[in-house]
Amino acid sequence: MCGIVGYVGERNSLDVLMGGLRRLEYRGYDSAGVAVIDDEGEIETAKRAGKLQVLADELERHPIHRGGTGIGHTRWATHGGPTDRNAHPHLGDDGRLALIHNGIIENFSELKDELLAEGFAFESETDTEVAAVLLGREYRRTGDLRSAFQAIVSRFEGAFTLLAVHRNEPGLVVGARRNSPLVIGLGEGENFLGSDVAAFVEFTKRAVAIGQDQIVAITADEVTVTDFDGEPVEVEPFEVAWDASAAEKGGWSSFMRKEVSEQPEAVANTLLGRVVDGQVHIPELESFGDDELRAIHRITVIACGTAAYAGMVAKYAIEQWARVPVEVELSHEFRYREPVLDEGTLVISISQSGETMDTLMAVKYAREMGARTISICNTQGATIPRESDAVVYTHAGPEVAVASTKAFVAQIAALYLFGLHLARVRGTLSETELGKQLAELQSVPEKIRTVLGEAEHVGELAHWMADTRSVLFLGRHVGYPIALEGALKLKELAYIHAEGFAAGELKHGPIALIEPGQPVFVIVPSPRGSATLHPKVVSNIQEIRARGARVIAIAEEGDAAVLPFADEVLRIPLAAPLFEPLLAVVPLQIFAMELAQAKGLDVDQPRNLAKSVTVE
Ligand code: F6R
Repeated sequence: MCGIVGYVGERNSLDVLMGGLRRLEYRGYDSAGVAVIDDEGEIETAKRAGKLQVLADELERHPIHRGGTGIGHTRWATHGGPTDRNAHPHLGDDGRLALIHNGIIENFSELKDELLAEGFAFESETDTEVAAVLLGREYRRTGDLRSAFQAIVSRFEGAFTLLAVHRNEPGLVVGARRNSPLVIGLGEGENFLGSDVAAFVEFTKRAVAIGQDQIVAITADEVTVTDFDGEPVEVEPFEVAWDASAAEKGGWSSFMRKEVSEQPEAVANTLLGRVVDGQVHIPELESFGDDELRAIHRITVIACGTAAYAGMVAKYAIEQWARVPVEVELSHEFRYREPVLDEGTLVISISQSGETMDTLMAVKYAREMGARTISICNTQGATIPRESDAVVYTHAGPEVAVASTKAFVAQIAALYLFGLHLARVRGTLSETELGKQLAELQSVPEKIRTVLGEAEHVGELAHWMADTRSVLFLGRHVGYPIALEGALKLKELAYIHAEGFAAGELKHGPIALIEPGQPVFVIVPSPRGSATLHPKVVSNIQEIRARGARVIAIAEEGDAAVLPFADEVLRIPLAAPLFEPLLAVVPLQIFAMELAQAKGLDVDQPRNLAKSVTVE
């Protein structure tokens, strides 16, 4: 939530900041702003409510001067509505200092009272302006931006990444972070700061993730990192694994369309190098010895939203293969219920961004309680992997559209690899069975490609249903989380009421919702692989059809049993039951995207949302 960019160097910082903000806009798009120290050493700011383009238009009409130092911000509003006035940067020290912020300063009102009592005035309703004014007050005392930061950061409670510039120190950007992300981009004669590497990957692929409770100062030639007390901290640079072009639309009409189409590669790249001679090989898990994996008596998966649904899918596979009980819990519920955790509990967190605050806090809590933690993450240098005992990266590439698609299938692929590894170590699957499952997993990318080939049919259906007000989704076994995911995609993209149910639950209440014309997607298990469940789901279809529902079945090639009862059938290739979710989800993603586009909505940046939810 909120994207942050900082730059010091020879280039016109405004160009760098606007380019970086464009790549970070997925993090929040309520307002945007920049502050640049111009060549005369004055701070110039521009900020506007609305998407980044509104600011870009404003800068076109009223250009600001060139300068090599600057900070930029794209906002997802927390304290104070999305107005020009509440947009960042906020000023301190009588306009000599500009500051931007990602996060929430929970104790801002008591700090504000302190400053009001001293006669300071405020223009906005934000917690950020309190930080700016406080920093300005300390700057007057210390005359040094780094020292001023040190004086204020430990007074804040909550989560923050702060970046600031002061006109008296024109070639310097100083930042601090607690519980919100900040990454340095190391250039030649220039340096960058960003909420994630997308902010600067166009210019450099060498990066450093700033740790918890650290302060960073960049000039054109130097980067220094200290803890909150000013003690120097060693940093470890890493290479960004993808190119700037991966975060570009590259001719697609939307990031979402591009990312849906990249799903075969997202799965293939997640498997790449991890299946060697027919065996799962995950070097990142070396710190977990076989004895330790054998001693695990329970797995708790923590995640939010789509990532939690990936966890629900994996529960079926891991329990079936490795015979360990798996529970899946929403991160924000987890740590507030005193969960039972011990050294025999493995906690697996799943997060595309690696920054979701709810999941981060749950991981920290699990570690405090003595559990061992593995994170499944798509973002290098993110906070959750750093706070975990080990990380298995999904190699889906940057996911820019706010609604998660390719990260979801990559998460399932990574979790399946882990499940098969665990099954081998625990001896719960024979070599032959392991080989069969791995072959199924490796065939998924090609099968997703086949499903993508049917996109046009799904698109026609969506356009034809553009006036629909409510859609239900039914699934069973691994199809159940896919029903939930299908409903979530439709809600967030097309703003249509949608609900997912376990098909067996229908008669326990939801069937009362069925009235003539009600569209219901049903994910039908394979008649070959799920011989007992298939007829039950077909009966469910008949029950809702008898009450007037319009049934859209997602069924495997050749399943003729659904034909007499379904109004539409969307086909997926034959796959073993545990692998069907990786295919069945694709038409549901396309349906939601196409329906949203038919309604003229922005599929990349749905209203009220942000990609990276860095507040609790
Ligand atoms: C839905 C979606 C969200 C995220 C959730 C977790 O399309 O994208 O539900 O899955 O906010 O985000 P991460 O995976 O970044 O922790």
